[in-house]
Amino acid sequence: MAMFDVDTVRKDFPFIDNGRIYLDSSASSLTPEPVLKKMLEYYHGFRANVGRGVYTATRRATDEFESARKRIASLINAKPEEMIFVRNTSEALNLVAFGIGLKPGDRVIATVQEHHSNYIVWLRAKEKIGVDMRVINSDPEGNLDLCQLDRELERGARIVAVTHVSNVLGTKNPVEEIAKMAHERGALVVLDGAQSVPHMKVDVKRMGCDFLAFSGHKMCGPTGAGALFIRADLQDDVEPLCIGGGSIDDVGIGYYKLKKGPSRYEAGTPAIAEVIGMGEAAAYLQRIGMESISEYEERLTKSLLEGIRGINGVELHGPMDPKKKIGIASFNLGFMNPHDVALALDRSANVMVRSGHHCALPLMRDVLKCEQGSVRASVYFYNTEEEIETFINALTALTASSR
Ligand SMILES: Cc1ncc(COP(=O)(O)O)c(C=O)c1O
Repeated sequence: MAMFDVDTVRKDFPFIDNGRIYLDSSASSLTPEPVLKKMLEYYHGFRANVGRGVYTATRRATDEFESARKRIASLINAKPEEMIFVRNTSEALNLVAFGIGLKPGDRVIATVQEHHSNYIVWLRAKEKIGVDMRVINSDPEGNLDLCQLDRELERGARIVAVTHVSNVLGTKNPVEEIAKMAHERGALVVLDGAQSVPHMKVDVKRMGCDFLAFSGHKMCGPTGAGALFIRADLQDDVEPLCIGGGSIDDVGIGYYKLKKGPSRYEAGTPAIAEVIGMGEAAAYLQRIGMESISEYEERLTKSLLEGIRGINGVELHGPMDPKKKIGIASFNLGFMNPHDVALALDRSANVMVRSGHHCALPLMRDVLKCEQGSVRASVYFYNTEEEIETFINALTALTASSR
């Protein structure tokens, strides 16, 4: 497989031009120049609303907006009419949890690995609707307890909500197997793809999921645009979170009729430039190639894990096999507070890492037993082996000085 040239790619990211080492792409990725250029092209050349009006600029804006839908659909092997634009993964998951028509006593199965965005929406459904929520355990390596899932499914469930990749451990979950198990018992599968779509080839048809949520800002797009895949034949059963202009077929004095397809869910003026930017980001990733991205990141992950593991006094969480995970390394350094570690790395070596509980408190506290959270370094295809080395050296120096 042809590998891309990282030095060429890095020219698209001026943020890392000046020695900054950005190892926080799991929180939000950087945005390359072609994406910014595309958004500016909209503001300079065809700045008008979409789906309304007949003049040239508004028709061009609508065409570009719909072309973004096609590009994003193609990234995950969905049909354009199955892609709904939202602000981010959190909004997408709220839409599913409150649109699917859950009733008192319906059973929802989530996992302890979930980001709060795919956890508290179900807890809220429990609180407000009386849904029976079950939580599947995980070991500290990130292996979900599939026997427990099987037992829970045996009792019947409407929804299985699971993250494709853990944002703390980086573990890739066996989503194809989970979807098969769920479908055999008549449950629908809601996948959180926030950490998978940016880093690996994701195919909704092959995985067999019914819903997939992801964010533009983690996949080289701008903030403010995200997407939700809803399987075409389920759309009549899912209510929009918000209705209004653009989402109706007809309105009379005493009635309204919602449209079919994505616009049913996209009331009001959307984040036009951001969606167009997200579409450009999808095309950018596809030009590099998702397989090339995964392969390159696997190499960086290997160096990252080996480097951290070699430092005395550092506790590294999650699987050590880079094939089982994406480029995330969560760790703790003795009794040092994770925020102090992140601050020290920033000051001493210009290295940016995330610290805290990563919006995954159940996993952090109940499974990893990390009351104060952890430090998380995460890589993307624009990082280099040299940057990993600088990071490892800075961490080694910090460990030595903290003894
Ligand atoms: C696994 C996972 N799910 C959901 C989210 C929430 O994404 P957003 O903040 O874009 O809604 C994140 C963000 O870190 C995440 O890592």
